[in-house]
Formats: sequence, C-alpha cells, structure tokens
Amino acid sequence: MVAPIGIFDSGMGGISVWQALHDALPEESLIYLGDGARCPYGARSLDEVRDFTFEAVERLLAEGCKMIVLACNTATAVAIKELRECYPNIPFVGLEPAVKPAALTTKSGVIGVLATKRSLEGDHFRRAEDKYGAEVRILKAVGEGFVEAVENNEEQSPETETLVRRVVEPLVEQGVDKLVLGCTHYPFLRSVIERVAGDGVEIIDSSEAVARRVANLLDEHGIRAEAGVAEYRFLTFADEAYAAKLRDKAFKK
Ligand code: DGL
Repeated sequence: MVAPIGIFDSGMGGISVWQALHDALPEESLIYLGDGARCPYGARSLDEVRDFTFEAVERLLAEGCKMIVLACNTATAVAIKELRECYPNIPFVGLEPAVKPAALTTKSGVIGVLATKRSLEGDHFRRAEDKYGAEVRILKAVGEGFVEAVENNEEQSPETETLVRRVVEPLVEQGVDKLVLGCTHYPFLRSVIERVAGDGVEIIDSSEAVARRVANLLDEHGIRAEAGVAEYRFLTFADEAYAAKLRDKAFKK
C-alpha cells in the first residue's frame, strides 16, 4: 500500500469526510479509524478527548500514514495544536465549524451553529465567534442525541426527527438562514435537518472544503499518490462488527 492518509473520528461521523476524500482523491489510499468504543466524545472531559485522540493518531502513524485528517470537530478543538507540536513533520488537517462562509453570506443576519458541547467551548469556535459575532447574530446549539442516532443507523426514524425538531425549530424561529453543521456526524442527518429547517435555510457542511484543503496540502508537501489502485481500511478500538459497520457506512450513499 502506498502511504495512506489517516482519518480519525470518535465513531462513524468522520465517514462523511471519508466520502468527500474518496470522491475528490480517488487515487489516495485511506485508513479510517473510528474509535467506536468510547463514542460520543462531545461531552467528555478535555483530558479524555486529548488522550483518546493521541492514542488514535499514534495508531494511524504506526500504520504509516503520511497525513492525518482529524475528521472530528471535537478532537480538533481539543488536540490539534498539541499534535502539530508533537509531530512537526506530519501535515494535520482539522475540522472546525464553518462560521466564516455562513457569516459572510447570511441575509437575515442570524446564523445557527450545531456542534458538540466540547466544540462550542473550544478556542477555534470562540475565535470565530469573536471575529464575526459583532456583525451577525450567532446562535449555538448542541445536537443532543444526534451522534447516537447516526451511530445506531437511525437517521430516518421518527424519534430522530423529533430530536432534530427540538434543536432546529427554535433556531429557525429566531430567523437563521444559514445552519452550520459543526460535527461530522451531522451530515448524515442532512435530509431530516433540511426537511425541518425548510427551504429558507441553507445547510453548510465543511466536508468538501476539507477535501480541497487536503488536496492542496498533498501538493504543497509533494506527497500525492501516483495513479494506481487505492486501498481502503477501517480500524476501530471497538470490535470487528463495528469495523464492518464503518465500511458499510462509507460505501452507502
Ligand atoms: N464527530 C465528532 C465531531 O465532529 C464527535 C461527535 C462526538 O463524538 O460527540 O465533533
């Protein structure tokens, strides 16, 4: 296997980023590590998220990965700075709620950001809030139960729609016209979020922007894979059945 790109998330959410990378960079081999054993991370302590993320990155580096994508807003918020310091020769790409494109294009002047508690308390989000919060109103909400719904493959269940309504309707009532998906699990709920939010609300997901960033970094570092057959592996700290679920999610469109 030519050196692969390593992709990490607490569970299945980062598969939304895996799919964007798979589509944009078909020649690249990918190793996806979804913790699975300790998901969700969103309400865990800083120390736990930090330690789990380091453990995962070390595992991916032991597999020979040339670049690491933290396909998890929560892990990025907690650990990317320290990871870059510890591994200065490895390019890292992180995920952050896409506040900027939402703030620059809103017409109503009100945007919504859906993310985990840990991400909304992190420095990346706070900085974005400081930068754009003076011009636009930024409403934050934790997608309570959303991660579990995606982990259990219950994206289309009536219970999941109830969870989404509880979180999204109050944002719509307060006038949001842009809704940022600041957790990589949430794109799997996109169709139900769209249905609840209605036509007047644009949903903003960062996966494609991340794939463009990865492509640019591969070029900058001169580490793009040559044309050939890409390989895809799925690792986990849970069990083999979970690894199989990650693969199924990746190839299900
Ligand atoms: N998918 C992750 C994120 O982007 C983590 C969700 C969780 O484990 O709570 O934040």
